[in-house]
Amino acid sequence: MNAIWGKKIVLGLSGGIACYKAAELCRLLIKAGAQVQVVMTESAAQFITPVTMQALSNKEVFTSQWDARASNNMAHINLTREADLVLVAPASADFMAKLLHGQADELLSLLCLARPIASCPLVLAPAMNREMWQHPATVRNVAQLSRDGAHVLGVGAGDQACGESGDGRMLEPEEIVQEVARVLTPPTLLGRRVLVSAGPTWEAIDPVRAITNRSSGKMGYALASAAWRAGAQVTLVSGPVALPAPRGVSRILVESAKQMHEAIMAGAQQHDVFIATAAVADWRVKDFSAHKIKKTPGSAAPQLEFIQNPDILASVALGERAQAHALYCVGFAAETQDLARYAHEKRLAKGVPLMVGNWGPATFGLDDNELLLVDEHGSSTLPKASKDELAQQLVAEIAQRLPSFFQL
Ligand code: C5P
Repeated sequence: MNAIWGKKIVLGLSGGIACYKAAELCRLLIKAGAQVQVVMTESAAQFITPVTMQALSNKEVFTSQWDARASNNMAHINLTREADLVLVAPASADFMAKLLHGQADELLSLLCLARPIASCPLVLAPAMNREMWQHPATVRNVAQLSRDGAHVLGVGAGDQACGESGDGRMLEPEEIVQEVARVLTPPTLLGRRVLVSAGPTWEAIDPVRAITNRSSGKMGYALASAAWRAGAQVTLVSGPVALPAPRGVSRILVESAKQMHEAIMAGAQQHDVFIATAAVADWRVKDFSAHKIKKTPGSAAPQLEFIQNPDILASVALGERAQAHALYCVGFAAETQDLARYAHEKRLAKGVPLMVGNWGPATFGLDDNELLLVDEHGSSTLPKASKDELAQQLVAEIAQRLPSFFQL
């Protein structure tokens, strides 16, 4: 279950052209399983109609603190007592300046002030012209709102409705949904630094040909994202895949196993957890041809000689940090038979505390998977689910194991 599923979210709109994106945002939140109650300021209603937002949220929209529909006439209290989160998107410069001072002269700012601060987080997605965003008053307000406990999201850069270009665009709806999921996820990895390897490697034969494998990188990317949502600082070292960098994650792109080895060995020094999901090629071609190997009629096929690649996971597990119990290593074993036995054997052979087994052909490129967790106490299964869902569960399993490991 994703962190947004079943949550009651108040989606507030203050005035700004980015209001048009709030329609899509509302739709995505509902798709993720939230119940969305829309509240709009008077100026927001100049940009997008309450009719649109009502149709998308399937709930009556509130625009005024004097709304007589609430029998107690306290919409600001009623709307926040049940809410799990208040999201203001777009949050205009003016609206944030008001919030900062605890002003409450219309329904949206009133309910932000009236919400139970301990149980109902406030997320602000700013949107404004680049000069307004850079203005010392806005910079000061954003800093103070963050100190007051609001989650003030960043902004996007690019063309603005006013014709200028720069920082200040509201984040895209998908990005805001990720941020909301992060705020709603228990921060089990807060303060931890997590290194993830993902994807296949690309072992060049000549400048145009290579040996690779069918790993899509989806599981590793899902894990990197889940670790970020759980509060970790995440570095993802990725082989060639067709996936965008997950939000909040710092990505290093590599091609060969040798490059991945270098990046991971350097990174391992600054991380607390290493999750090796990459399908690293076991061998590389011994003599890389600087030019394309030519085929001539009747000529024999090239005889390729291979040498073994370094075992990245085993090298990290043998390193000082892992041996000193300062780095927790997790391996993945993709097998086509005897999964449990091979996963047990591989855990011991690689010297890692946790090995995750999965069926090779049943996972490569697909969105679903099923995992077998093998540690010193035995094994358990995470039943078939989406890779996003499994990543979330695996991150929780890893987080649970860390305190005792680091104490040893
Ligand atoms: O030995 P095998 O490839 O089955 O082990 C899988 C695990 O080892 C995965 O976690 C994979 O990322 C890691 N591995 C590695 N370097 C290699 C081969 C595998 O880190 N050269």
